Amino acid sequence: MNAYRASLLWFAPRSEGVARALYEQDGLLVVGPDAQGRQVVQAIGAYSTVSRQYPQVPVQHFPGRIIAPGFIDLHIHYPQIDVIGSPASGLLPWLENYTFPAENRFSAPDHSAQAATFFIAELLRNGVTTALTFATSHPESVNALFAQAQARHMRLITGLVLMDRHAPDYLVNQGQGSLSGTEQSLRDTESLIQRWHGVDRLGYAITPRFAPTSTDAQLRGAGELAKQYGDVWIQSHVAENKDEITWARELFPASRSYLATYDDFGLMRERAIYAHCIHFDDDDRALMRDTGAAAAISPTSNLFLGSGFFDYEGADRVGYQYGLASDVGGGTSFSPFHTMLAAYYVGREGQTKPGLSLTPQHLWWQHTAGAAGALGLDGSNGGPAVGNLLPGCEADFVVLNPQATPLLARKTALASKLDELLFSLIVLGDDRLVEQTVISQAI
Ligand code: GUN
Ligand code: ZN
Repeated sequence: MNAYRASLLWFAPRSEGVARALYEQDGLLVVGPDAQGRQVVQAIGAYSTVSRQYPQVPVQHFPGRIIAPGFIDLHIHYPQIDVIGSPASGLLPWLENYTFPAENRFSAPDHSAQAATFFIAELLRNGVTTALTFATSHPESVNALFAQAQARHMRLITGLVLMDRHAPDYLVNQGQGSLSGTEQSLRDTESLIQRWHGVDRLGYAITPRFAPTSTDAQLRGAGELAKQYGDVWIQSHVAENKDEITWARELFPASRSYLATYDDFGLMRERAIYAHCIHFDDDDRALMRDTGAAAAISPTSNLFLGSGFFDYEGADRVGYQYGLASDVGGGTSFSPFHTMLAAYYVGREGQTKPGLSLTPQHLWWQHTAGAAGALGLDGSNGGPAVGNLLPGCEADFVVLNPQATPLLARKTALASKLDELLFSLIVLGDDRLVEQTVISQAI
């Protein structure tokens, strides 16, 4: 066992109400193996009490530092690391001119491996310990990312991008022998599930890019796999951009809405994570709630691509799950601090939907415990828990240095309440705040 002494930030259990942060100025976090040999939190609380219960455990002291749960990125594209900051008039030209050409390079295993190594290192450098990630339509890109995440003991979920139409020939799923591209993509998905899902800390996500780039046959096949493999994840995009919505409605006129298209093909259920979810009506919100699907809110991406503003009031009024995501490369930063600040701006916007002033505890929760709940990784079903430091959670955490920059040091020294401290970190923070990222390792 190991113990870490520092200021501690974590979240009350979901049963005690959403988004309530707990904070211990002089705390002790005790980590040790569970029955399966995974390193999990054994105890957390005031140093004065917890240290008496674990007198033999060696203590590492981090004076002036804050230990907090590792962040969870609910939606990111590892093949888009070189696309960050590519301007376009909107989503569809951005995809065509920058994103698809960049993704083409991932047919080469060497390029995939090198990008995967960089990507995982960059997540960890920014304090992100769990990610739900797009790869490309090349199986090599999926294998490369899983292999790298496995080597770093990281909890990572990814999958082969399904796109069998409306994309350049070089990027649509390729057929082999007598199999069409559509059939091959579904077969590849199943083999990748069997090879990787549940291995160490890895999980598979069935990944139709978005409805417009899949045929009915591909979406139907994806839905069948989602039914057959009930504990794999599903990820896609929805209702991000007005032109995208018009296009999706033309292609699937029988569905009640763009979102309902996914439901019509069996792609909405728990563990289904839809990026953006901006242009929704209340029937869409109710469909999210009733199916147990969750939104990956991607504020830096939505601001960069001019897509619109996620409606927090609508989501909470109807009551469906959500969490935060960088959506790199539409998104502009790997840093959870930048994403939380952008989420504050998006929530605040009050011209296109009700404007809310989200609390810093709530923003932080959306990127940790809330995101874990959206993924079904909060331990509520007896499975693993991440995104929190309650006893039993996997011990993925960050060590933050609130003195990382002169302005942070000056501002955080003035904080007299937890919300003041957290807001200073969110507004002024970036990768410099993250002194260490610690990953739970099986022993
Ligand atoms: N919709 C379909 N593909 C993409 C993508 O790569 N990024 C974003 N932001 N939206 C998408
Ligand atoms: Zn995306």
